[in-house]
Amino acid sequence: MAPKHQAPRGTRDLLPDELDRWQWAEARAREVLARYGYREIRTPMFEDYELFTRTSGEASEVVQKEMYRFTDLGKRELALRPENTAGVCRAYIEHGLGGRARIHRLWYLGPMFRYGRPQKGRYRQFQQAGAELIGTPAPGADVEMISLFVDLFEAWGFRDLVVAMNSVGTPASRRTYGDALRAWLAPARSRLSADSQRRLEVNPLRVLDSRDDADLALFHDDALGTMPRMLDHLDVESRVHWDAVLAGLETLAIRCEVDHGLVRGLDYYTRTAFELHDRSLGAQSALGGGGRYDGLIEELGGPPTPGVGFSIGLDRVLMVLEQRGEGAPVPAGSVFVVAMDATRVEATRLTHELRREFAVEQDIESRGFGAQMKSAGKSGARVALILGEDEWQRGEVGLKDLATGEQRTVARDALAQYLRGMLGSAAEPAAGRGA
Ligand code: HAM
Repeated sequence: MAPKHQAPRGTRDLLPDELDRWQWAEARAREVLARYGYREIRTPMFEDYELFTRTSGEASEVVQKEMYRFTDLGKRELALRPENTAGVCRAYIEHGLGGRARIHRLWYLGPMFRYGRPQKGRYRQFQQAGAELIGTPAPGADVEMISLFVDLFEAWGFRDLVVAMNSVGTPASRRTYGDALRAWLAPARSRLSADSQRRLEVNPLRVLDSRDDADLALFHDDALGTMPRMLDHLDVESRVHWDAVLAGLETLAIRCEVDHGLVRGLDYYTRTAFELHDRSLGAQSALGGGGRYDGLIEELGGPPTPGVGFSIGLDRVLMVLEQRGEGAPVPAGSVFVVAMDATRVEATRLTHELRREFAVEQDIESRGFGAQMKSAGKSGARVALILGEDEWQRGEVGLKDLATGEQRTVARDALAQYLRGMLGSAAEPAAGRGA
């Protein structure tokens, strides 16, 4: 029988076993972000609904179909954030960050919410890690972003990455391209899905985002000739920018591949757009994506300020790592204290003391020696400390290496030092495989 209460559709619980891998991945991400000089920013999980319609775009799938929109008791129109670039830019303006320093390197990690149809790799609450570099239009910023993006995946054990790239130009060059796309699709207009016909009017680039099979077949229909390409409609500056970004990536030996159909699902992009896919995930194959958004901060009422960034879908990354059996942390070296009736009080004191430095477990139910040893074996601990009455009175502790089965006695005074040599300090993060 199904339990009375279940997690809402499209959400899930992450249980401790799974979270070991999540924490490992998040710790690796924090290390890489710190090495690049990025600093964390935390913004609210809900914002004014209008913030997202202005930035993601009225015609985007996210705004049209996926918003968790609600009115609060004060009659404010709000929405759970479907993404975090808009929130970060809102905070950038609200706190006048532009006046404090010219360039800001920011990162975030947290849940986003989209009311999509749940399927493999697609949730209604999902976790993103993202970074934004705000304040410079230089192509070097795009290159730094893409290099950070790739380095994060490498820190999680991904290899041989190829980043899909395109330029979506400026709003003006996009209009020219939109006209070309509309003219190209004109003979087949009635065969397009209803959604695409509507998008062709409002925002023709969105048509390239269609997942409709008939639409996709049309794009490859020989009768229409070759689809016009955004790169052929770029304004001069966007072209120069594009060439400089590609040259920068080449210098760093970052592999990329031009994808003429890549337009991104949100409307705020200008110039560079990029994504990384993993086909093993099926239809929801995008592991992450981003691009430049030079008009976004101005659109929100701030001073003209360029920016570039990306977000990575951690649920999908973790899914790939799990499929590959990678990224599981080696359990931190830990200790299990086993007491006799006569040494229970001392065992509690010793556990308390050792916990300042090591991960220590102890029986709290006053069970017998055998039951405690069994628990020690199951616990994953590396060492059992056995507080036999006689040894303890002699100032010694029995120590069993649970990995090798070896036993010895160690002087009580030298115990911490001995454990340090064996386990390292618990303050050190557990080493991970696949890094
Ligand atoms: P996005 O492409 O919409 O970009 O999302 C980034 C990533 O979030 C996707 O590639 C995917 O891995 C993950 N994702 C999106 N929706 C879901 C879902 N329903 N379930 C699981 N994972 C999902 C952005 O969000 C932009 N803010 C990126 C950006 C930052 N652009 C500039 N700065």
